[in-house]
Amino acid sequence: MTQMTTRTGAALAPAAFGTMQWGGSAEDAASRAMFDACLSAGITHFDTAHVYTDGASETLLGALAEDRDDIFVATKAAYDRPATPDNLRHSLQTSQSRLQRDVIDLFYLHRFDPATPLEQTFETLARMQSDGAIRYIGVSNYAAWQVMKAQAVAATFDTRIDALQPMLNLVKRQAEVELLPMAQDQDIQVCAYSPLGGGLLTGKYAALGAEGRLTRDDRYAKRYGPEWMQQAATSLTDIAHELQTPAATLAIAWLRRHAPQVHPILSARTVEQLQPSLDGLTYEMADDVFAAICDLSPAPAPATDRLEEA
Ligand SMILES: NC(=O)c1ccc[n+]([C@@H]2O[C@H](COP(=O)([O-])OP(=O)(O)OC[C@H]3O[C@@H](n4cnc5c(N)ncnc54)[C@H](OP(=O)(O)O)[C@@H]3O)[C@@H](O)[C@H]2O)c1
Repeated sequence: MTQMTTRTGAALAPAAFGTMQWGGSAEDAASRAMFDACLSAGITHFDTAHVYTDGASETLLGALAEDRDDIFVATKAAYDRPATPDNLRHSLQTSQSRLQRDVIDLFYLHRFDPATPLEQTFETLARMQSDGAIRYIGVSNYAAWQVMKAQAVAATFDTRIDALQPMLNLVKRQAEVELLPMAQDQDIQVCAYSPLGGGLLTGKYAALGAEGRLTRDDRYAKRYGPEWMQQAATSLTDIAHELQTPAATLAIAWLRRHAPQVHPILSARTVEQLQPSLDGLTYEMADDVFAAICDLSPAPAPATDRLEEA
């Protein structure tokens, strides 16, 4: 597989850190401490977006990463606006300025835009790349057919999609059906977001009166509301108690073992929260524990019927 590298040519660790909470629910001092903790753990890939916290996430990341060649910065455009050439250029310029860097390592389209012709979008991205303003192209929240359609268009401009950013965790496994096999086939690096289900898989919501993103944000409350997901989190916590290991560590370790080619994008509000996720990157999960955690969540149906007969 073609590996994305830093500007110094170093390979990326098999995980990234997401800064969506920076400038929002994570305090600046805690954000700085998490940045340092990631570097100490060998993580040099930081993920942000034009829309996060009205630009505060990009601005703080820019201040911390400066223009260091050994730090790989990914940002995203076109979430709240169409992926038109003008919008993309404006978004890139704003991101470059907030991030204090002329070269963005990885530039994602944040979601599929059905209204703007892909030819316009990818001609613009190809130009940005040949001008040296972006190094790799990524797409997020795309269905597999949308990636393949865009990849064909990208090829006409002598470029390609290098990275894909879907949601993926123990209770959100849709990406396994089409996206992961497609990415393997197309040599696309998958960087998965919400590896803890926004906090559900830490098990904290089992406690009476627990507060967190799932009680504060309706979208997350709805996304992780189904009873079976809550039950999976409770059962994961039971396994965690038995092993005297944080549930978050098990959730990250399960993902690493289940889909080793995927780079989870870890996130937290404090170093104390982050540490169990970092530990998950090196945790060696026993076969029986892996099997027990797999049993907590139904495997999604195959991409076409009868595949299970093959
Ligand atoms: N492309 C996209 O559309 C998209 C969407 C979402 C995220 N992302 C990216 O992916 C990154 C990771 O996603 P995510 O933030 O959803 O990841 P996540 O790991 O599923 O959730 C992180 C959240 O879980 C809670 N948490 C983490 N560790 C904890 C612990 N030990 N104890 C208790 N609570 C804990 C914290 O929230 P609370 O304390 O507030 O509950 C923390 O902010 C983001 O930062 C962003 O860069 C991309």
